[in-house]
Amino acid sequence: MRYDGATRRLGWPLLLLAHLWPLATQAFYLPGVAPRDYRQGERVELTVNPVTPKIDALGSQLRSVIPYNYYMKQFHFCQPEGGPKSRAASLGAILSGDRLYNSPFNLVMLHNTTCNVLCKTDAIPKEDIGFIANRIREHYAYNWLIDGLPAAHIKIDRQSGEPFYSVGFNLGQAHPDWATNQTESVPVTLHNHYHIRVQYHTNDEVNHRIVGVIVSPYSKHTLLSQNGTADCNATEPLVLNEHEDHPGIVYTYDVSWEPSDIPWGTRWDNYLHVFDPSIHWFSLTISAVVVIFLTGMVAMIMLKALHKDIARYNVDEEQDDIREDFGWKLVHGDVFRAPPHAMLLSVLVGNGAQLLCMAAVTLVFAVLGFLSPSNRGALITVIVTFYMLFGCVAGYVSARLYKMFGGEEWKTNIALTAFFFPGIIFGIIFFINIFLLSAHSSDAVPFGTLAALFAMWFLISTPLTFVGAYFGFKKLASIYTYAIEHPVRTNQIPRQIPEQAVYLRPLPTMFMAGVLPFSAIFIELYFIMNSIWYHKIYYVFGFLFLVFIIAAITCSQVAVLMCYFHLCTEDYRWWWRSFFTSGACALYTSAFAVYYYYTRLDINSFTSTVLYFGWTGIMTLMLFVMTGAIGFAACLLFTRKIYSAIKVD
Ligand SMILES: *[C@@H]1O[C@H](CO)[C@@H](O)[C@H](O)[C@H]1NC(C)=O
Ligand SMILES: *[C@@H]1O[C@H](CO)[C@@H](O)[C@H](O)[C@H]1NC(C)=O
Ligand SMILES: *[C@@H]1O[C@H](CO)[C@@H](O)[C@H](O)[C@H]1NC(C)=O
Ligand SMILES: *[C@@H]1O[C@H](CO)[C@@H](O)[C@H](O)[C@H]1NC(C)=O
Repeated sequence: MRYDGATRRLGWPLLLLAHLWPLATQAFYLPGVAPRDYRQGERVELTVNPVTPKIDALGSQLRSVIPYNYYMKQFHFCQPEGGPKSRAASLGAILSGDRLYNSPFNLVMLHNTTCNVLCKTDAIPKEDIGFIANRIREHYAYNWLIDGLPAAHIKIDRQSGEPFYSVGFNLGQAHPDWATNQTESVPVTLHNHYHIRVQYHTNDEVNHRIVGVIVSPYSKHTLLSQNGTADCNATEPLVLNEHEDHPGIVYTYDVSWEPSDIPWGTRWDNYLHVFDPSIHWFSLTISAVVVIFLTGMVAMIMLKALHKDIARYNVDEEQDDIREDFGWKLVHGDVFRAPPHAMLLSVLVGNGAQLLCMAAVTLVFAVLGFLSPSNRGALITVIVTFYMLFGCVAGYVSARLYKMFGGEEWKTNIALTAFFFPGIIFGIIFFINIFLLSAHSSDAVPFGTLAALFAMWFLISTPLTFVGAYFGFKKLASIYTYAIEHPVRTNQIPRQIPEQAVYLRPLPTMFMAGVLPFSAIFIELYFIMNSIWYHKIYYVFGFLFLVFIIAAITCSQVAVLMCYFHLCTEDYRWWWRSFFTSGACALYTSAFAVYYYYTRLDINSFTSTVLYFGWTGIMTLMLFVMTGAIGFAACLLFTRKIYSAIKVD
């Protein structure tokens, strides 16, 4: 691990974790992360991944979000002998869009070559030329991998002036004026010559490891000579003419092997460039201030107001008239009255707890460095696996709550916990998939992967939910965990709820309360969205972990504060409200996603829009249920605490 530059600027908490990283990764070589030694003359495979829309210039907009398979017919890229063969990828890699294939590039360790002919394509009809030109206008980029390292091009960070590797490189070049002048006459050039620089580190005399891949693409109007060689010295670019069929494009490449000092263990550092860490620190500071402020508020209520209230209630036991004028105690006979739709609430909180556990464990893994970017798709694999495993948490929490509410249809409860929320998520994924299939995008999840997901859901997650629910419902559970018994008895007849002030009605409270957790997460949310849609690597998990903790604290405190205000005005309908109050953060997230769509993306295809809002919908729903569960749990603890402190005759 190199501690200078990016790592040092992340500060001491992360530095501590950075020290743990090498220990963890050395003790724990995950598949695909072990180094591979090559000897001189050994063939090195170049694999290709789908072409994806990508931009690097800050402030410019993304025009599409649909990836296309590298060997899609319309591209007419050179194929290896015997046709492309797919390369194995993990479940997570497939879900995150990897579709790896072999390629006809011939790279031999330490053999510098120039002007190799990859192939000359057959004639390309003008419709396909138009297709390629449109992809170039949408800034599509190649994604190649050599020894697990993505082919990059070098860019300069405008702020610090440091060079860094930007993953992928453009399919071609459209005239920059195109954004303002969308006439087809603006020339589009295709990159058909690649200068591939492979950096290697020599371990001992004979073993070499690949530590960097840089590709500089060129557009050259190359012609093949009679004997099959090409002249790569052409200076004229290859301009695509969409009104004519093309007789055939010649693809060529150079390979140069460059010795490098970068050891294998830090080869990803150049790829993981932190643009400006101060923005992360800034947002973290703001949210920390918010949390301290909220903690102060809650502490004040707990210590001062409540203490005073409790003392007063208990001292003035006989003087009924004084007791009358006070808020939250008056509703003691109603505060634990089971809410309407108790079934749905317990199911949602159960699923929220499942997501919360999944997020927490995944983040711990990520912070400890187990999810190294060289293990492609590891993040998604871990997320899916833990989601399935924590089905038991969902079953348990949902069952406990449902029992607490006095529900009796326990079979329905288990079934809903196992199938209702995951069913919605799978339903949306299915729906998106249909659109992707119709657009011939490579992002469509293959049938085998979908089947594997369903198998995991039905064979792992569902049985675990049943197991969790069994322990939740079982009487025995009360022996080793406290039985959820309410500290005060509930009256037979519900109490009248007085008219509430406008700002204490459900919608205004949701709007007020949602702002605070959202303000804690929104900077990281912005970076996560950039990494998803711009296909950038997200790796500042240290920040994300801190933000996660801060957001969780904020959610619970906001929910507790609102709950207290409601109880003080004798409104005891807090069950659902606590869920919605902290879940309201997702409301702002979806509004932010719409804003992002209009400002950061410049999409005019329907499929791209469906894809964007489909995935955003899934993320928002998950966030809603997760934050809702946090607020619910906090309020449950809070009400139990304060009502068990007072004496009721
Ligand atoms: C757009 O570009 C074309 C070709 O470069 C040019 O002829 C035309 O005048 C431009 N139109 C505008 C509105 O700038
Ligand atoms: C192929 O032809 C070009 C000119 O057409 C010539 O310069 C070159 O030497 C030839 N190469 C071989 C291997 O015959
Ligand atoms: C291309 O240029 C290089 C150096 O500029 C030269 O060595 C080479 O012979 C040229 N190739 C042809 C085919 O002209
Ligand atoms: C290959 O070319 C690079 C630079 O282009 C050079 O540094 C390196 O030494 C060359 N390797 C061999 C084996 O000739």
